[in-house]
Amino acid sequence: MSVFPGLLFLLLVTMAAAGPLRLRPGFYSETCPPAEFIVRDVMRKAMIREPRSVASVMRFQFHDCFVNGCDASLLLDDTPNMLGEKLALSNINSLRSFEVVDEVKEALEKACPGIVSCADIIIMAARDAVALTGGPDWVVRLGRKDSLTASQEDSNNIMPSPRANASFLIDLFWQFNLSVKDLVALSGSHSVGKARCFSIMFRLYNQSGSGKPDPAIEPGFREKLDKLCPLGGDENVTGALDATPRLFDNQYFKDLVAGRGFLNSDQTLFTFPQTRKYVKLFSYDQNEFFKAFIKGMLKMGDLQSGKPGEIRTNCRVVNSRPVDVLLES
Ligand code: HEM
Ligand SMILES: *[C@@H]1O[C@H](CO)[C@@H](O)[C@H](O)[C@H]1NC(C)=O
Ligand SMILES: *[C@@H]1O[C@H](CO)[C@@H](O)[C@H](O)[C@H]1NC(C)=O
Ligand SMILES: *[C@@H]1O[C@H](CO)[C@@H](O)[C@H](O)[C@H]1NC(C)=O
Ligand SMILES: *[C@@H]1O[C@H](CO)[C@@H](O)[C@H](O)[C@H]1NC(C)=O
Repeated sequence: MSVFPGLLFLLLVTMAAAGPLRLRPGFYSETCPPAEFIVRDVMRKAMIREPRSVASVMRFQFHDCFVNGCDASLLLDDTPNMLGEKLALSNINSLRSFEVVDEVKEALEKACPGIVSCADIIIMAARDAVALTGGPDWVVRLGRKDSLTASQEDSNNIMPSPRANASFLIDLFWQFNLSVKDLVALSGSHSVGKARCFSIMFRLYNQSGSGKPDPAIEPGFREKLDKLCPLGGDENVTGALDATPRLFDNQYFKDLVAGRGFLNSDQTLFTFPQTRKYVKLFSYDQNEFFKAFIKGMLKMGDLQSGKPGEIRTNCRVVNSRPVDVLLES
C-alpha cells in the first residue's frame, strides 16, 4: 500500500518537468556560479591531453540534439531494457571522448551537486571546443533537463550518412527548422576533427555504385586519400576533415572550393547550387561563417522533446527513482 505515495511523487515530479523548458543565459549564475568556468577548464585540460578530444565532444551536440532534442539521451549507456544511442549506426566505433563529459560532470557534482544537467554540459562544452580552437565564443542558453530514456532506433532513422547529398541534407535540416544557410554553416564544424576511411571508401572506389570515384574530388587529393585508405586496408585509419584539423577557421570551406572535402556530405555542399553560394561566401569571409555558425548552434541547441526530465548524477545512467525501488521490493 505504501506504493501510492511513491507513485504520486513520481507523477508530480514528471508533471513538473514536462513541457517546453524556458532556456536562458546565466541559468546557473545563482545555483552554481562557477559552472561555465568549470566546463571550460576541463575542456582546456582535455585539449592539452589530446587535441582531437574537443572536436569529438563538440560533435555530441549534433548527435544529441537531432534525436529527441538536446537532452543528453546520447550519453546513456545501454541497459538490459534499453538499447542506447551510443551503438546506433552513425555513432558506433565513431563517437568518442565520452570520458571528457564524465570528467566535467564529476567536477560539477563536486562544486554544486545535482544542479547542472548533462544536456547543458554538452551545449557548454561544444561552445568551449570552438572557442578553445580559435573559433568564436558566444553566450549559450541553459536550463535543459536530462532524458529518462534513449532511442537507438530514432538515432538510426534520423542521423545522416556521410554519403548524403546536399538536397537530402537540406530536407533533413529543414525538419528541424534549420535553413540552408544553417546547414552549410553547421557543416563548418568539420573545420576540426577527423573521420575514418570507413566513411569514404564508397566515394573513393564506388560512388553511387558506379565502380568509380566521386568525380568532384580533386585528383591530387584523391591520390592522397587512396594512399590513406587503400581497398582492403584498415578502415579505422583516420584522416583530417580539413587541412587545419586543430583550428576552427574557414579552411574547411576553402578546401571544398578546391575539391578537397573529406566526406561526400562535405563536398556535396559545393556541388549543389543551393548550398554552393554559402560555401563560397564562407570561404572568403570567415566572419560571416562565424556569425552563421553561432546562429545555427543556438537554434540547434534549442531543440527540445517536451518530455519529462531530470538532472542526472551520472551522465551515463538515469537516476534511480522511488518507484523503481518500490517495484523491486
Ligand atoms: C550535415 C550533416 C553531417 C554529416 C553527414 C556528418 C557526418 C560526419 C561523419 C561521417 C564524421 C566522421 C565519422 C567517422 O568516420 O567516424 C563526422 C565527424 C565530425 N562531425 Fe559531423 N556530420 C554532419 C554535421 C555535423 C554537425 C552539425 C556537427 C556539429 C555542429 C558535426 C561535428 C562533427 C565533428 C566535430 C566531427 C569530428 C569528430 C572527431 O574528430 O571525433 N557534424 N561527421
Ligand atoms: C540525393 O539523395 C537522395 C537520397 O539518397 C536521392 O533520392 C536523390 O536522388 C539524390 N539527389 C540527387 C539530385 O542526386
Ligand atoms: C519550427 O518552428 C515552428 C514555428 O516557429 C514551430 O511550431 C515548430 O515546433 C518548430 N519545429 C521544431 C522541430 O523545432
Ligand atoms: C559498387 O556498388 C554497386 C551498387 O551498390 C554494387 O553492385 C557493386 O558490386 C559495387 N562494386 C564494387 C567493386 O564494390
Ligand atoms: C574498427 O575498430 C573496432 C574496434 O575498435 C572494430 O570493432 C571494427 O570492426 C573496426 N572497423 C573497421 C571498419 O575496421
